[in-house]
Amino acid sequence: MSRRKKPDLIFPKGFLWGASTSSHQVEGNTRNEWSEWELSESRVRDLERRGLIRQYGLETYVSGKACDHYNRFEKDFNLAKKLGHNAHRFSLEWSRVEPEKGVFDEREIKHYKQVVKTLKDLGIEPFVTLWHWTLPLWLVREGGWESKHAPHYFTRFVERMVSALGKDVAFWITINEPEIYASFSYLKGEWPPEKTNPLTFLKVIKNLIAGHKKAYEVIKRYSKEASVGIAKNNTYFEASHGWANKIVKQISDRFWNFWFLNAIQKHQDFIGLNYYFHSVIRNGFNKNKNKLVSDLGWELYPEGIYHCLKDLGKYERPIYITENGLADARDKHRSWFIKKTLFYIHKAIQEGSDVRGYLHWSLMDNFEWAHGFLPRFGLIEIDYKKQKRVPRPSAMLYQEIIKQNGIITS
Ligand code: BGC
Repeated sequence: MSRRKKPDLIFPKGFLWGASTSSHQVEGNTRNEWSEWELSESRVRDLERRGLIRQYGLETYVSGKACDHYNRFEKDFNLAKKLGHNAHRFSLEWSRVEPEKGVFDEREIKHYKQVVKTLKDLGIEPFVTLWHWTLPLWLVREGGWESKHAPHYFTRFVERMVSALGKDVAFWITINEPEIYASFSYLKGEWPPEKTNPLTFLKVIKNLIAGHKKAYEVIKRYSKEASVGIAKNNTYFEASHGWANKIVKQISDRFWNFWFLNAIQKHQDFIGLNYYFHSVIRNGFNKNKNKLVSDLGWELYPEGIYHCLKDLGKYERPIYITENGLADARDKHRSWFIKKTLFYIHKAIQEGSDVRGYLHWSLMDNFEWAHGFLPRFGLIEIDYKKQKRVPRPSAMLYQEIIKQNGIITS
């Protein structure tokens, strides 16, 4: 029998390892702003115009049953446990818990209690996201995050969930990627409610900031020891030669990477970093070499996480990687990508970054928003028809890394 090689890069003791999901993407049968939009006239017309319905069928773009994780979470978490995970990030579906304004569904609250309990019983640390982009329909009718009342509604929902789950949850993520949500929904108009108005965008960001701060205070009131943060999508902006590019980089960093974090500085116990993007600035953005790309055409650039981590040092907070991953149906690059990314995380830790955990996106294939079910982000492959789960080879490599709490670079 061959002796197992020892890792040469070891992570700090107690480092958390796992994966992330979000409610709308995995649960199935949600009824919210997205599920309505997926079947809306404008959306279906747009898919038709692009020939996507003919090519892939409308069902590819409708979340529907998704992974049926709502009914299968116990099995899924058992599988995560088998794969060695000791942490897991998931989100609460606000539209289930509060389907009508001010009316809370106790059965759904019980469901999420059970979700948390299942994780805890398995020795998996839950990271609970309170809002991952999907709004209840009653709130949409009131203007969603555009409404000045949205922070209040959000806090009321948060209070309800924290009072129910608080004692079992050590890590809360109030909001997932506020600026991605606000820009796709209110600047680019690609996601519901398909608006393209910079002023509305600003209003939404302002309300998200207020929502986070209020939620932070409520969570702390229930549980002083809880750690609260957001999941922030940061891009590594790399300026090529010349002062003009450097100035563009500084402005981009300030606006895209630090604006929200600066605004909530006094209301965060940790930073959740979602890292996917690198943008080379050379008289314009995204002048990347793109030596390797994912199935979505996104450049695979693990080194960028090192730079993002270094830049977050100034906040002097623990950092958890709350998302990092790639669409890779054939699992061609995922093992390499995970190892390389961990190499750069380790390098940042060596240089003083306080990184305490890595949550891969995603535990399993899921509904990738406007791209539907085509992109495959999972460590676990899903056969949607049979609802079968099969861990990909990269999930096994990740299991080995977790077991050893380190990576072998040679
Ligand atoms: C989001 C996830 C999404 C992933 C891959 C992140 O921006 O939080 O919901 O699936 O990226 O696109």
